[in-house]
This record gives sequence, C-alpha cells and structure tokens, in this order.
Amino acid sequence: MVPYIPENAPFTPAQRAWLNGFLAGLFSTQPLPSNASAPTASPPGLKVTLLFGSQTGTAEGLAREAGRRLNAEGFTARVCSMDAYDPADLAQEHVLLVVTSTYGEGEMPDNAQRFWAFLSSDQAPPLNHVHYSVLALGDSSYPTFCQAGKAFDARLEALGAHRLHPRVDCDVDVEAPFTQWYQGVLEALKTLSVAEPLRQAA
Ligand SMILES: Cc1cc2nc3c(=O)[nH]c(=O)nc-3n(C[C@H](O)[C@H](O)[C@H](O)COP(=O)(O)O)c2cc1C
Repeated sequence: MVPYIPENAPFTPAQRAWLNGFLAGLFSTQPLPSNASAPTASPPGLKVTLLFGSQTGTAEGLAREAGRRLNAEGFTARVCSMDAYDPADLAQEHVLLVVTSTYGEGEMPDNAQRFWAFLSSDQAPPLNHVHYSVLALGDSSYPTFCQAGKAFDARLEALGAHRLHPRVDCDVDVEAPFTQWYQGVLEALKTLSVAEPLRQAA
C-alpha cells in the first residue's frame, strides 16, 4: 500500500499533489513482498518446444530463429526436427510451436511424416495441457496452400490443445508473416505467463 495525503490534510491542492507523487515514487522503490510477482514478467525459463517440418530448410531456419529470440527473452526454447522428436514427450509439454512447410501436393515434408502419422492416429493423447501455435509455409500457386500447417493446426485443436495465437500462413515471401507470427506468439506467451504461471517441466 502506498500512503497518500487525505483531502482534509492542511495542504493546498498543489502541495497535496506533489506530496502524493513523492510518496508514490518513494514506495515504488521498495522491494516487493516475497509472495508478489511482477505483473508482466514471464516465469523464468518457461519451456517452449518448437517442432519443425522442413524439406529444404526454410521452416527449419525460421524455427531456429524463433527459438533464438525466445531464449533471448528468457524462455527455455528447444528447437527440434519432428523426426527427432519423441511423441512421449508430449505429456511434458506446456507450449508447442509448430513450424512446417507443405510438399508434394498438400503433403507433409519428409521429416514430418512419422510425427504426423502418430499425431493423426488414434494413439495420439489428449493435449488439453498444451498451448500451441502454427506457422505454416507454402506457396499460394498450389491449390493445397499450406495444407500441412493447416492439418497440424486442426489436429492439435481436435486433441484439446489451446491455440495460443492464430495460425499464420506464409507465402513465398516469409519474412513479414514470420515476424507477425513471432510477435503475436511472444505477446501471447507473456499474457499466458501472467494468467497461468507454468513452470519448466522437470
Ligand atoms: C516440389 C514442391 C512441392 C510443393 N508443394 C506445395 C504444396 O502442395 N502446397 C504449398 O502450399 N506449398 C508447396 N510447396 C512450397 C513450399 O512449401 C515452400 O516453398 C516452403 O517455403 C518450403 O519450405 P521448406 O524449405 O522448409 O521445406 C512446394 C514446393 C516444392 C518445391
């Protein structure tokens, strides 16, 4: 509680305003009580897993860039190719970011096939404990524009995961949509951190 000068105190309005400002400044420098947390700070080390599916490296590069930026923001980001990811780890995830391109005629890139086969099967677990967002890469000259990313987005939702930020679809020029997606995810993560203080999984 910051003390203040009541209206009936023997000061002019200008004096009272100055004193109230002085007191507010003085008390704002006091340490917070030990059970209080700064309202906008993310919990240190909040774990974020970025999974990429990529045929020629573009999605991988963007996933790694997002991971680097999130680590610089104080999160603990792990960037992993989908074919190197153990689906058993899904039980430990709090935040899952999927960055994938589309290949063939609306198909998964090669390194996403195995994980997608699992996720789209009856074996996939409920993911109500997971917050997620998808960055989809593609080329709008294909009728199945960004189909792989759309499929991940829909399947994660169907498994009960919570969409942290809407999917963003990148056409040939990926830079601007990537920045838009990353900024949206970052803001959502900060909000999520305040509302739901998730801790890094052991
Ligand atoms: C052979 C081939 C097939 C593709 N098929 C699709 C497609 O079906 N739908 C789509 O949206 N983009 C398609 N693309 C575009 C890629 O998804 C896009 O170039 C993407 O940025 C590549 O990312 P990556 O390097 O991470 O694989 C295709 C590209 C190639 C070369």
